[in-house]
Amino acid sequence: MAVQMKKGVYWVGAIDWNLRDFHGYTTFRGTTYNSYLIIDEKITLVDTVKRPFYGEMLERIKQIVDPGKIDYHICNHVEMDHSGSLPELLQQIPNIKIFASKMAQAALTKHYGASLPVEVVKTGDAIKLGKRTVQFLEVPMIHWPDSMMSYIPEEKLLLANDGFGQHYATTGRFDDEVDSAETMFEAAKYYANLLIHLSPLIQNTLKKVSELKLEIDMIAPSHGIIWRKDPGKIIQAYNDWSLYKSKEKVSIIYDTMWGSTEKMARVILETLMTAGIEAKLLKLKANHRSDIMTDILDSRGIMVGSPTLHRNLFPSVAGMLCYMKGLKPQKKVAAAFGSYGWSGEAVQDIINVFKELQLDIIEPSVNARYIPDERELQQAADLANTMVTKIKEMD
Ligand code: FEO
Repeated sequence: MAVQMKKGVYWVGAIDWNLRDFHGYTTFRGTTYNSYLIIDEKITLVDTVKRPFYGEMLERIKQIVDPGKIDYHICNHVEMDHSGSLPELLQQIPNIKIFASKMAQAALTKHYGASLPVEVVKTGDAIKLGKRTVQFLEVPMIHWPDSMMSYIPEEKLLLANDGFGQHYATTGRFDDEVDSAETMFEAAKYYANLLIHLSPLIQNTLKKVSELKLEIDMIAPSHGIIWRKDPGKIIQAYNDWSLYKSKEKVSIIYDTMWGSTEKMARVILETLMTAGIEAKLLKLKANHRSDIMTDILDSRGIMVGSPTLHRNLFPSVAGMLCYMKGLKPQKKVAAAFGSYGWSGEAVQDIINVFKELQLDIIEPSVNARYIPDERELQQAADLANTMVTKIKEMD
């Protein structure tokens, strides 16, 4: 069913109930690919859907208008979850006029071969659809070079593409129709796994939007629910996340071979609990790296533990650190612990990653030989107590 968002503006996207992995991040609640249809003198489709869902989008469009009558297509972003149906759409409507950023024009050609009938638009440009106007706002590298948002002032509607989204498949289309805690959890997970490394750019964009004094009473992203009841809530959350705001909470991330590193992780957890600090024990055998990144988003402390294997990090810990390096969480206190038999390189390898990330590192780390004895377990507890002191100082 197409869903009217504003008079003459419809959601005509697709719901992907079964998606469980979005380029490497777990999506236990599926996702949606949102495209939007605007009925005006120039009938306009904003973004499409992932290619296998073209038929679903087309059926929804047909409930409102003959697809052959669509005049304009706005391509806010070339990634294939949004542009994947463009070749089919062009086959069906060969005379459709496409509006996209300069970077998107080149990327569309590279994705789909022949050059497409694209009119390049940039920030400040606007097109008249009839009684409505679409203004364009390029947001390069949030999160691709081509990314753009579209704003309709007459409707106070921001079509934000990947911004403010969530991978969240629901029957409700709006924030007031779904579980608010689930929505915010998925929005946080989306930010932690796709956008956190872009936080400085996101801060600048939020400032730019604020300076432009755009009146916004609805934000329609290209994934998940549409913010109509309280769009300010997600703007505030993006502001907090992009400033790396955190709480007195510690993510304890580790893996273990024979239980030694785990023994230390448990002492660290007990010490934090005794100090009244919220913490999570996140063993890599039991937690996907993307769920761990979600936990890290509002944690002030990160404690990473690894056994040394073959003079190296344990592979699951190495994978986690590689993922974290790309996503660049900031303004965290970090500590390392681990165990070894004879060489013991893993703990220093963890510290090296913390240094690259420019985190506030607690040293010395704790590195226990074979099985941690009382002295080494006390060192792990001391490390946790130092963490408590440091994260409290950041209040
Ligand atoms: Fe960057 Fe939803 O694609």
